[in-house]
Amino acid sequence: MKTQVAIIGAGPSGLVLSRYLALQGIESIVLEDRSREYVESRIRAGLLETQSVQMLEEIGVADRLKREGLEHKGIYLQIPGERKHLDFEELIGYTVWVYGQTEIQKDLDAACDAAGQEIHYEVSDVELHDIDSENPSVTFVDKDGNKQIIECAVIAGCDGFWGPSRKAIPGVEVGSFERVYPFSWLGVMANVAPSTDELIYARHPDGFAMHSMRSDKVSRLYLQVDPTDDIANWSDDRIWEALSKRMAVDGWELKTGEITEKNILAMRSFVAGKLQHGRLFLVGDAGHTVPPTGAKGLNSAVNDVRFLGEGLVKFFKEKDATLLNRYSERAKETIWRVTHFSWWMTTMLHTNGNEFDNQLQLSQLKHVFKNKALQINLAENYVGIR
Ligand code: FAD
Ligand code: PHB
Repeated sequence: MKTQVAIIGAGPSGLVLSRYLALQGIESIVLEDRSREYVESRIRAGLLETQSVQMLEEIGVADRLKREGLEHKGIYLQIPGERKHLDFEELIGYTVWVYGQTEIQKDLDAACDAAGQEIHYEVSDVELHDIDSENPSVTFVDKDGNKQIIECAVIAGCDGFWGPSRKAIPGVEVGSFERVYPFSWLGVMANVAPSTDELIYARHPDGFAMHSMRSDKVSRLYLQVDPTDDIANWSDDRIWEALSKRMAVDGWELKTGEITEKNILAMRSFVAGKLQHGRLFLVGDAGHTVPPTGAKGLNSAVNDVRFLGEGLVKFFKEKDATLLNRYSERAKETIWRVTHFSWWMTTMLHTNGNEFDNQLQLSQLKHVFKNKALQINLAENYVGIR
């Protein structure tokens, strides 16, 4: 097979990039090791920044998002007994959108189908070759067990934190940074109408709790748990009790319902030493990850696509690699900003058993509740104005 850009991974990074390029007349082939059904039902992100929505509009996949998604003007921050609404629209004039990553995947797949784009699902043994040369290639075994090769000009590594692309970069660990947080999130999907109009981020002595949603009938909720905890320890009743206790405020009640999915997720920040090696570019979670407290993972993946896409358009259309070779530098500026914001939200809202830290967290939250400059700063970071 021959193409201009071989894209490894059909998550949001891979498919947004392939649509962006296709609309500029640049060919790509996407490889994905999971099935299409698996990728479309993998429950992850739910919150989109203004700029991500703009990108989805630009590539023609925002119709359903605009029809079925929920536009939120702000969020609630909470400490015991006090729930504070931050109105982003009033503070800075921007909003965010709640729309599940599962739905974005379905919309992207449908757009790729309509455009006749080549996506190979359920491939195995993906390997990258000659990334230092002008003619790199990717080998893989297709769904039917046949060995295949894609010859290309550029490889986009959109294969998430565990994929093969980052590992193909010699010395990538040099200048890489990682922080594994000493807590995890227990995530729950439930068939119950949200008990709130906008997301609640609550700090409580028992740990962080969060109320998000997917629609007017489905709630998405999270609880801080110990990283060594086992989901088997968490009956549905225990989950609802913990959520109700941690998010309690006078006159408010958490509606409970059927839990359809629950699992525990590790919390990690990671930034790779470099996002480019020769003709290989790392995009999204392949190059960097953040804990979900700031809702930044998917959004910064889309931001990477914008920078890489612009560089590739200049490269293929004008034979000018200058912007492409600045990809890592351009993307990293945003990546460190979102890494800082995610760290700030995470450390402010999660308990760690240290009384000094507890006092600092409460002081910081109370300061945000009162101080407009801090509220504007939080709002700008949250909606992704950079
Ligand atoms: P992925 O989505 O990981 O896609 C990578 C793809 O590559 C996958 O489909 C994978 O199967 C494939 N792949 C891996 N290895 C191979 C291989 N060897 N060969 C071929 N294909 C391969 N972000 C936000 O912005 N807002 C949120 O509200 C938010 N909430 C989150 C909540 C949770 C619970 C979690 C877990 C994450 C959340 N995120 C959020 C983060 C967001 O989901 C990720 O940052 C996003 O999925 C990154 O997209 P990606 O395409 O770069 O990587
Ligand atoms: C979600 O809806 O899954 C979600 C929203 C905001 C976050 C994290 C997760 O910060």
